[in-house]
This record gives sequence, C-alpha cells and structure tokens, in this order.
Amino acid sequence: AVTHVHQFVIQEASVKRLCKTQHVMTVNGMYPGPTLEIKNGDTLSVKVINKGKYNVTIHWHGVRQMRTGWADGPEFVTQCPIRPGGSYTYRFTVRGQEGTLWWHAHSSWLRATVYGALLIQPREGTNFPFAKPDRQSTLLLGEWWNANPVDVVREATRTGAAPNISDAYTINGQPGDLYNCSTQDTVVVPISSGETNLLRVVNSAMNQPLFFTIANHKFTVVGADASYVKPFTTSVLMLGPGQTTDVLISGDQPAGRYYMAARAYQSAQNAPFDNTTTTAILEYKSAACSSGNSSCSLTNPIMPRLPAFNDTPTVTAFSTSFRSRERALVPAQIDESLFFTVGLGLNNCPPNFNASQQCQGPNGTRFTASMNNVSFSLPSNFSLLQAHIQGIRGVFTSDFPAAPPRVFDYTGNVSRSLWQPATGTKLYRLKYGSRVQVVLQDTSIVTPENHPIHLHGYDFYIIAEGFGNYNPKTDSSKFNLVDPPLRNTAAVPVGGWAVIRFVADNPGVWLMHCHLDVHITWGLAMAFLVEDGVGKLEAIEPPPEDLPICS
Ligand code: C2O
Repeated sequence: AVTHVHQFVIQEASVKRLCKTQHVMTVNGMYPGPTLEIKNGDTLSVKVINKGKYNVTIHWHGVRQMRTGWADGPEFVTQCPIRPGGSYTYRFTVRGQEGTLWWHAHSSWLRATVYGALLIQPREGTNFPFAKPDRQSTLLLGEWWNANPVDVVREATRTGAAPNISDAYTINGQPGDLYNCSTQDTVVVPISSGETNLLRVVNSAMNQPLFFTIANHKFTVVGADASYVKPFTTSVLMLGPGQTTDVLISGDQPAGRYYMAARAYQSAQNAPFDNTTTTAILEYKSAACSSGNSSCSLTNPIMPRLPAFNDTPTVTAFSTSFRSRERALVPAQIDESLFFTVGLGLNNCPPNFNASQQCQGPNGTRFTASMNNVSFSLPSNFSLLQAHIQGIRGVFTSDFPAAPPRVFDYTGNVSRSLWQPATGTKLYRLKYGSRVQVVLQDTSIVTPENHPIHLHGYDFYIIAEGFGNYNPKTDSSKFNLVDPPLRNTAAVPVGGWAVIRFVADNPGVWLMHCHLDVHITWGLAMAFLVEDGVGKLEAIEPPPEDLPICS
C-alpha cells in the first residue's frame, strides 16, 4: 500500500461559462478539482490550504473513515472550518472499497465548484471482478449558476424562499454544445471500435437528481458507491446527488459521434427546476478529427432519448435492479429499529412578521425541512465530534427521536399545520456494534420528492423500497437479506420509503442528511453518535494536532 500526498489550495478563480465570467472558489484553480486515483488499501494525505475568502472543509464522500472521523470533513460536525489563511491535513486509509467515490467542500454551497473524483482501483495484485476495461473515463455531473453559488444560498437564507434554480447542468464542468455559447465547452470521451470503456458517473449536482444516457449504447452496471454489484444492463441511469454508478460500455456501434446526455429527474410537484440538458460526446477514434486526419467526418452527434422529467417508473426499474456482487453481510437481527421521516415543511411566521426578510416563501411562510420534525442546526463554537470526545456540555443533546412525534398519513394530502419543524441539534446515540435498521419515509407535507439520503462514515444495505406509507406488517416480507446493494446514499422513492441496515462499527459522530443541498440548508439532517467500544481498536483515534478549532 502506498501513501499519496496532495496539496489542495482553495483559491478564487475566474471561470467563464455560458458567455459570462464568474469568480468562484476552486481547488488549485481547477473547476472541477483534481481527480485523485488510488488503490484499495492506500492512504491519502491531503493538505488543504485555504487562500479563499470563506471558511471551508473538504469531505471525502463515501470513504468509511474507520476510526478516523476527524478526517471526514463536514463543518461543525467532525471539525471546525478551516478559516481563510488556515490549513488542515486530511489523512486516512481506504480499506475494502473499490470503484468510484468523490470529494467535495462541506461548507455553505462551496461544493458547487469545489469537488472532484476519487477513483479507487483494485487492491494491489488483484483485478476487477469483470474483464479489465480497455479504458476508463470519469464523468462528473454538475450544476452551474450565472452567479456565485454562495450568494445564491445566502439570498435564500435571508428571504426564506427557495433559492434560484441553476442555469445549466455540466459534465466535467462543461455545459455542452446545446447551451448558448458553449460549442467549445463540450467534453469528448474517446472510444475505439471493439473496446470496452469503464465509465465512472458521479452526480455532483447541488440540488437535482439526474437521468444519464448515451445514444445507441447500452450500459452494463458493475458498481455503485464504490461497491461492486451483480452486472445488469440498462439504457438509462438515474443518480441522486452524492451517488456514483460504474458502467461498462462497448464500442459496438458504427464509428461516429454519439451524445451522452443528462437532465433532471424532477419528482417534486409544481416546483420550478432547471429543465436544460447537458451533453458530452462519445467519439469513435476513427471518426475523430485529430490533426492530420483530413478524411474525418465531423457528423452531428446522434441524440439519445431521455426519459420524461417525472418518469418515476424508469427510476424504480433502475433502482430495484441493484444486487450486491459479494455475499452481503447484512445483519439478520437488529438491535435498533428506527423510523425517520424525511421531508420539507413551511414554517409559519409570527403575525405581523410579514415585513421580515425571512418570510418570503409561499404565503408568507419560510421553507424548512426536517427528519422526525427536527430541523437540524449546526453548532458554531465546537464541532459535535470534539464536544463528544472532550465531554463539552451544551453543544448537542442526545434525544433525537427514534420515531416521528406523531403518526399520520405521511404521503397523503395532509395539512402542514401538523408539521411545524422545530430546530435542534439532536443526536441519536448508538452503542458500538449495534445492528441498526432505519426506515426512511418521505412525506408530502410540501411536496413528495425523491430524497438522496447520505450517511457519513458508513455504507449501508438497502434491503427494500416502496411507495406510500411504510407498513411494518406487510413490507417486512419484501426485505432482501441475501444480496441487497451496499450504498452510502439511498434515493428514497418519491412518496415512498426505503429501509436500510448497517452495523455501528465505526465510532464517532456521523451526519445523515439529504444530499439535495438546499434541503441541508433547510435542516434535513441528523447525526448519529456511535460510542467507542472496548479497547483501542474499537475507539476513535486521537484528533490530529492541526485540527482546526472554532474561533
Ligand atoms: Cu457528500 Cu455530507 O456529503
């Protein structure tokens, strides 16, 4: 195993897209940021130097961080932010994970431009569990604003209304030539006839689940969230923000140019969304117009058919096709049976509050979001992990509810007056090694929606999903305890539920949240506090000496 040493300088850069120049935060001036490539078993040591004007942290999305929670990154959860002028070195080892993960800023909306891929190749001396691909390409799907994304979220926080929707989607930071003034801003992915290409697709968009497809080519899905899956074929992928999918494609079509395209899967009803389409070009080498190849034919790329924006049946067919490749180690018995609602709310503003800037949402309300009616708020004086390890009182409480405060028809047409979330910094305490089941139940208080729920520090098995209200009597018969997929982000079906299981074998404080960033802004999050077990190997490591502290 090898230690890879990198330096990430957070700095402002000018990026021109859609004919307009924006000043955005970047890593090393790159948008998207650098791709890190390691092998399973390797160690990463990344020194982050903040030369920007905002507080920042970096999260290694999906890395299990066994006993190294101090390197996980969410601000005020596992560390205080790195202040302008400060630095912090994230050091951790990747064990037992192979495939595609990614890294991103975990402060405000900086991750809109501060993100990149983390590719984990097979452990030294081993191979893929499928024929070695001839080529590997990474496609980071993103979202672009004609604005500084930090200003976009600040404005939403000020008014209580929904933030502006994005102006473009991107593939590796490029909108593609269907957008105005973007002919040059199109990614070209090469392929040769007869070749197999491993595509690593990441949804790094801020707020939008996305469909992804390629004209005339089928995908063989082989992995997701850095776990291998039993291969299956499909012509369209759907990824919620945070999710990754590894697919094989074959160069089995006539040499030419084919569009790869991504656009919104929009499950929220009557909510405005960016309905544009981003493209890249899959180009057969013999058709490429490289210099010296004067006989090349630069034909217009063939456009694929994309599902309709609200095509939930296609999403369901895709998400229920995943099976783990290895025998799954899903706990058959559980010690903790939890039921968490995930959804939005609209908080009433006090009478005579209309002049307030914070109530410019629908009918003079402001948007909120919650799990079990608790709208998560971060501390500002200590990180939760520091408060836990040092026994600092008053930073959080350990009373996050195991079930919602009241039972009702979650996905029915119910009054939002039933559901006025209150803010809190509540953690749910887990004993080391406990076997945990969480039912994640979407609510329709404001609108039903497909929520990508991400758990830090863990992978979990998704043992079932369905629509409507979860019914413990009948739905438990649908559990797959044999070969359920192992993921770090579950796309909870719109107006439905998903059941996940994991063993609490990683001590620390671990955030669980919706990966639609606007929903975190509104509080759709909670955190688990996993206690140390017995002995050193069941305890979190001591904090690094350069761990940032709050001012
Ligand atoms: Cu990918 Cu808490 O995030």
